[in-house]
Amino acid sequence: MASSNWLVAVAMAVAVASTLPAASRAQLQVGFYNTRCPNAEALVRQAVVAAIANNSGLAAGLIRLHFHDCFVRGCDASVLIFSPNGTAERDAPPNNPSLRGFEVVDAAKAAVEAACPGTVSCADILAFAARDSVNLTGNTFYQVPAGRRDGRISNFNDAFSLPNPNATATELVEGFRNKSLTAEEMVILSGSHTIGRSHCASFIFKNRERLASGTISPAYQALLEALCAGNTEQSSNVTTAIDLSTPATLDNNYYKLLRLNLGLHFSDDQLIRDATLLPFVNASACNETGWKEKFAAAMIKMGNIDVLTGTQGEIRLNCSAVNAPSSSASAGTMIIDTVFPDADGGEVAAS
Ligand code: HEM
Ligand SMILES: *[C@@H]1O[C@H](CO)[C@@H](O)[C@H](O)[C@H]1NC(C)=O
Ligand SMILES: *[C@@H]1O[C@H](CO)[C@@H](O)[C@H](O)[C@H]1NC(C)=O
Ligand SMILES: *[C@@H]1O[C@H](CO)[C@@H](O)[C@H](O)[C@H]1NC(C)=O
Ligand SMILES: *[C@@H]1O[C@H](CO)[C@@H](O)[C@H](O)[C@H]1NC(C)=O
Ligand SMILES: *[C@@H]1O[C@H](CO)[C@@H](O)[C@H](O)[C@H]1NC(C)=O
Ligand SMILES: *[C@@H]1O[C@H](CO)[C@@H](O)[C@H](O)[C@H]1NC(C)=O
Ligand SMILES: *[C@@H]1O[C@H](CO)[C@@H](O)[C@H](O)[C@H]1NC(C)=O
Ligand SMILES: *[C@@H]1O[C@H](CO)[C@@H](O)[C@H](O)[C@H]1NC(C)=O
Ligand SMILES: *[C@@H]1O[C@H](CO)[C@@H](O)[C@H](O)[C@H]1NC(C)=O
Repeated sequence: MASSNWLVAVAMAVAVASTLPAASRAQLQVGFYNTRCPNAEALVRQAVVAAIANNSGLAAGLIRLHFHDCFVRGCDASVLIFSPNGTAERDAPPNNPSLRGFEVVDAAKAAVEAACPGTVSCADILAFAARDSVNLTGNTFYQVPAGRRDGRISNFNDAFSLPNPNATATELVEGFRNKSLTAEEMVILSGSHTIGRSHCASFIFKNRERLASGTISPAYQALLEALCAGNTEQSSNVTTAIDLSTPATLDNNYYKLLRLNLGLHFSDDQLIRDATLLPFVNASACNETGWKEKFAAAMIKMGNIDVLTGTQGEIRLNCSAVNAPSSSASAGTMIIDTVFPDADGGEVAAS
């Protein structure tokens, strides 16, 4: 497009976007792909089942990928975007080297692209894969509202807004409130730490302060010190289970361990040091069924954070890369792409 035409197109797109009725900014829907790609959820599940059969830790990896996606720029799969120069979200310390499961998303995407080209977003694949991981490790199920679209921006620095394992109870509550999640939902979702692993750098230094203040079991910290011996660099790859009792089962043991001073991260331990949070820990520790119900509801709510819908964003063809400009109507900058309809977004022009 000649640059003057391009400017006119941009001006029109902005005008159209600003007058769109609220209804065209669709809500997520359970069964969104029932007509568009009937096998989408089954294909994602197959990829997740295969991956977890090979490496059970990937269930934790996929749940965390969805969380880290949703907390940065909303659930738009920005966490998956690969940057050739290492400047994407996934390159920043809160994500690198600890995030895992990217190849599972790629396998799921390949399967759904083969069945229904250009139809299923990477953000929805992440939400389905997290749900399937919960199902396979926790023997439970919830329906995932879908219809998310993929963003085109991923910035290294944005990842520093993710909750930090050194955060206090007050900071944790505020970080979740910033995403419209309550203090109780923060405690409920932290129960994800009943599966998965953590790198020494995420806990070992802060836990020396906890040892001094008597908020970690000395025997546990001694065990962790032995494990992390010589681990003084952020780059080290030594890891340990976050839930030392049942590290691959999504159960409520995480909460029971907290009450025994066996929480791994400072942030985990904070949940029992705060008078408003402790009752939520106790309730989850005492009622696994109740915790799982609340967990499913909170996962669905987390999956709604700042989603792109309708004609916003795009359906990425490769989850690791934004679509080439030629594959959409938007030849301009990334910011323009978020308001300008894609090639498959004819609904805006038609409405
Ligand atoms: C409350 C604030 C939270 C903090 C500070 C936090 C922090 C962390 C840290 C430091 C790790 C270990 C990373 C590593 O060094 O390998 C981790 C792992 C994990 N987190 Fe969180 N997290 C929080 C909440 C959540 C939430 C809300 C979820 C999901 C809904 C979640 C799911 C996970 C999972 C599944 C793992 C294990 C990942 C793996 O094994 O690959 N976390 N988290
Ligand atoms: C299984 O895991 C190994 C190493 O963890 C990996 O190299 C291999 O590609 C995986 N295979 C499948 C089918 O995912
Ligand atoms: C690195 O990548 C980002 C995003 O793709 C780009 O904006 C930036 O100019 C690149 N920097 C260098 C030094 O190539
Ligand atoms: C796990 O998911 C499968 C397939 O989606 C479903 O049939 C099964 O009932 C779920 N398990 C539980 C315990 O809900
Ligand atoms: C919450 O959002 C405010 C306003 O954007 C920000 O200043 C603050 O750092 C955020 N808090 C946390 C813990 O992320
Ligand atoms: C947490 O605090 C410890 C010690 O106070 C520090 O060494 C570590 O770098 C901090 N970690 C993060 C992720 O901020
Ligand atoms: C840690 O693992 C990453 C990815 O597998 C690798 O690139 C890096 O070299 C490892 N670092 C160390 C210190 O072994
Ligand atoms: C929570 O449980 C602990 C350990 O059983 C108990 O000491 C504490 O009083 C309980 N606190 C609340 C607020 O329920
Ligand atoms: C546990 O939670 C379930 C589901 O919310 C609820 O029906 C049940 O009454 C609770 N049990 C106890 C002992 O509180
Ligand atoms: C997807 O994009 C990534 C990052 O640019 C690239 O490395 C990979 O080869 C692409 N995959 C396919 C199937 O084209």
